[in-house]
Amino acid sequence: SKGGYDHFMEKEIHEQPKGIKETLERRLDDQGNIKLDSINISKEDLDGINKVYIVACGTAYNAGLLGKYAIEKFVKVPVICDIASEFRYSDPFVDENTLLILVSQSGETADTLAALRDSKAKGARILSITNVVGSSIARESDDVFYTWAGPEIAVASTKAYTTQIISLYMVALDFAIKKGTITEEFYKEMIAKMKELPDKIEEVLSNEEHIKELAKTVSGKEDAFYLGRGVDYNLAMEGSLKLKEISYIHSEAFAAGELKHGTIALIEEGTPVIAIATQEALFEKMVSNMEEVRARGAYVIAIAQNHNTTVEKASDKVIYIPNSDDILSPILAVIPMQLLAYHVSKLRGCDVDKPRNLAKSVTVE
Ligand code: M6R
Repeated sequence: SKGGYDHFMEKEIHEQPKGIKETLERRLDDQGNIKLDSINISKEDLDGINKVYIVACGTAYNAGLLGKYAIEKFVKVPVICDIASEFRYSDPFVDENTLLILVSQSGETADTLAALRDSKAKGARILSITNVVGSSIARESDDVFYTWAGPEIAVASTKAYTTQIISLYMVALDFAIKKGTITEEFYKEMIAKMKELPDKIEEVLSNEEHIKELAKTVSGKEDAFYLGRGVDYNLAMEGSLKLKEISYIHSEAFAAGELKHGTIALIEEGTPVIAIATQEALFEKMVSNMEEVRARGAYVIAIAQNHNTTVEKASDKVIYIPNSDDILSPILAVIPMQLLAYHVSKLRGCDVDKPRNLAKSVTVE
């Protein structure tokens, strides 16, 4: 049932505080430490791993990109994140010292499953992050971490994405504390900040009317662009996918620093640009990029943390999110993009939950 909402997608967007709470708190022990129930990767196992791949498709791949960032930052090992259908045919350097992390809501995506089988045959250790208990990917993996998002019905993935990110962050923190690459203090502090996310997401959701208004400025357009730097670029990819998938507006995500290398030629009078600026160290650079596109006529909708009000000088509209850590802000910033895509799709009279040409689970290659 849609629980009083018009569409499953809207319901699922609103279920994110609960999904994150479940994903996180079910894995905290009495001392508040992470307990990865069905993952049995010891410090010795970790010492034997010299390559980490994260492999997935679509939104799960976008979540994987944030996982790569967290693992590299916390565990201090290089991580390659790849699209399953590319990874499979790229003759990857997989051997018995490889950890392959698969991310899949359904646990049934054909290319992701094939990547699992190929890598397993080469001796890799397989850790999967999935939402469906007993799915093919879950069954064939060495270790499984379930995202407790609850069933996701809408084709456009929302709560699976945010819970996948939380799961990847928990795995990263667990590996890092085992390997001693982060301090106990940092570990505790990150967990405490993650626990604050459900309430902060509620705060973002309470701003839905504002986003619904902004949807009107996008719904009549043919193109939209999403810009970001660092993890905000990965987030831009997810925002853009959400919009194109359910509203059929052509949208693309760009690393903001790449503008001058071609992309800026696309900006016309009134082109909507969603500019994500949650990263403290990159904030000023993003503001300059907003000014650049605005000078060429773009209509800039910025997403920024509450305290960064100087963003207003470079944008037409701002969606504020509660202040948070650089690494956690993306989880807050994606919510308004999900809502924007949802309301644009609705305004355009699209079939929100079942967009044309798409299936919830892609079980063909
Ligand atoms: O079930 P999976 O997570 O493996 O599915 C992967 C993609 O097919 C999926 O995320 C797709 O991109 C969504 N429709 C995006 O909203």
